[in-house]
Amino acid sequence: MHASVKLPDPGLLGLLLRVGEGLRAVVTLRRSASGARSTRRPPPGSVALVGAGPGDPDLLTVAAVKALAAAEVVLYDHLVGEGILDLVPATAERICVGKRSGRHSLPQEEISALIVARALAGRRVVRLKGGDPMIFGRAGEEIDALDAHGIPVTVIPGITAALGCAAGAGLSLTRRGVSRAVTFVTAHGRDGERFEPDWARLADPQGTLAIYMGRDQARAVGQGLTGAGLPASTPVLAVENGCRPDERRWRTTLGAMAGQGIAAGKGPTLLLIGGALAQRDGAQRDGLQGGAPAAVDRCAAGDLG
Ligand SMILES: C[S@@+](CC[C@H](N)C(=O)[O-])C[C@H]1O[C@@H](n2cnc3c(N)ncnc32)[C@H](O)[C@@H]1O
Repeated sequence: MHASVKLPDPGLLGLLLRVGEGLRAVVTLRRSASGARSTRRPPPGSVALVGAGPGDPDLLTVAAVKALAAAEVVLYDHLVGEGILDLVPATAERICVGKRSGRHSLPQEEISALIVARALAGRRVVRLKGGDPMIFGRAGEEIDALDAHGIPVTVIPGITAALGCAAGAGLSLTRRGVSRAVTFVTAHGRDGERFEPDWARLADPQGTLAIYMGRDQARAVGQGLTGAGLPASTPVLAVENGCRPDERRWRTTLGAMAGQGIAAGKGPTLLLIGGALAQRDGAQRDGLQGGAPAAVDRCAAGDLG
């Protein structure tokens, strides 16, 4: 049998080709638009570990804002600053897993299990943590739990407390000629463990220390560092509730802190220690509060670290 194919006339063929090109362009655009969207909107059944920064919502990254806007479940801790949860859709489930009004935070295993369960249910989960999720944020344990279940996880970094607090005070932690290293260290031992760092390693006269969770250990920090050779006159800046409306700062010295601790209240408090903190030493000029003795007098004994 002989089949004959009738070609359309050349004018019509040209038109059809142009329409085809147009359709292909639309499809390509749609694809690239959905591709771009997928970088902002994690797929369902996935988890984003998101850094909330030190408190001020203006210090969130653009990626964090997009992840919050796309979230179906948000598990957040007590360090997340006010106003940040307003960025989460009203329909999203919100679960506070941190200390609040005297309640203790959930054990880490329970938090990980909650995240895994919500993701396995096909929800788009945001695990929102103060500062940067990877700095003293137990992110590693949560990532391990998600990996064990094959759940996709992304990490969106945040501004860690040390950087937020230093910026708020207008201080460079790596002042040229004064400090050539910054060390982030926690003053909090693992459950039940004694806090006993290697003081000699930390006592670098040309470095800056950012001590997390250090308020209650401030005396021990002062004694340990002066005992390891740092001068008693080494400047200390303590910042409570950094980058929040109720931020408070104290300037003191290692020697004074070794004797009296730090006069901070119950808010999260960071200790910055080292020669670089001597910049802008006119504490009154840049709004910093006065020396240690006056600050200690303002504080109830129970709040001293
Ligand atoms: C469990 S660690 C979490 C650190 C957090 N992932 C980060 O990157 O900032 C908690 C400690 O961080 C410090 N911190 C967190 N937010 C702070 C803030 N807004 N002002 C001062 N210190 C803060 C305090 O030392 C607090 O005890």
